[in-house]
Amino acid sequence: MMMQDPVDVVSMQWLDLIEVAALEVVTYPDDAWSQATWWAELAGRPRRHYLVARSGDGVDGAILGYAGIDITGENADVMTIAVAPQQRRTGLGSVLLARMHDAALQAGASAMLLEVRADNAEARALYARHEYEQIATRAGYYGGVDAIVMRRALPGRGASNA
Ligand SMILES: CC(C)(COP(=O)(O)OP(=O)(O)OC[C@H]1O[C@@H](n2cnc3c(N)ncnc32)[C@H](O)[C@@H]1OP(=O)(O)O)[C@@H](O)C(=O)NCCC(=O)NCCS
Repeated sequence: MMMQDPVDVVSMQWLDLIEVAALEVVTYPDDAWSQATWWAELAGRPRRHYLVARSGDGVDGAILGYAGIDITGENADVMTIAVAPQQRRTGLGSVLLARMHDAALQAGASAMLLEVRADNAEARALYARHEYEQIATRAGYYGGVDAIVMRRALPGRGASNA
């Protein structure tokens, strides 16, 4: 299935944080990042790089999703990725992931890393679809639920095993 309406993916701005934090609560009712955490994350630029996806012309359309990475040199870690429930399975998560891959590559990274809850089938399916491979398990990392550590090489510039 493809996105039916135009969606713009742009850098997250301070003014986006209220809307982002609201979508965060919908996405993670039990362990949402607080407003304070979002402020700290955005203050971490340029090492942190956050994106929002907006419907329409990118100025005042609703935020439909967001994502961010932490670029540590060789590696970039996916900090978060979320798509509004009514927009899922339309390809937006894939667009956000691809944009993070581009940003990481541009910043000189050669691989992406992430941790995902073992019981998060949707996210694991997304990452598998985008060539992430399981490299480790952290038992009980999420309060009794395992974390699956996944990695994918970024092709091009200096990739070790692309
Ligand atoms: C994970 C998430 C970001 C995926 O976003 P999305 O926009 O729905 O993903 P896409 O539409 O780009 O899906 C791409 C592919 O991933 C796989 N996939 C995604 N959701 C899936 C699901 N519910 N069941 C099975 N496969 C799924 C499919 O292969 C899909 O391709 P297809 O639709 O052509 O079959 C979204 O489900 C979400 O926001 N979940 C809550 C937040 C979360 O768990 N984030 C990850 C934390 S590690």
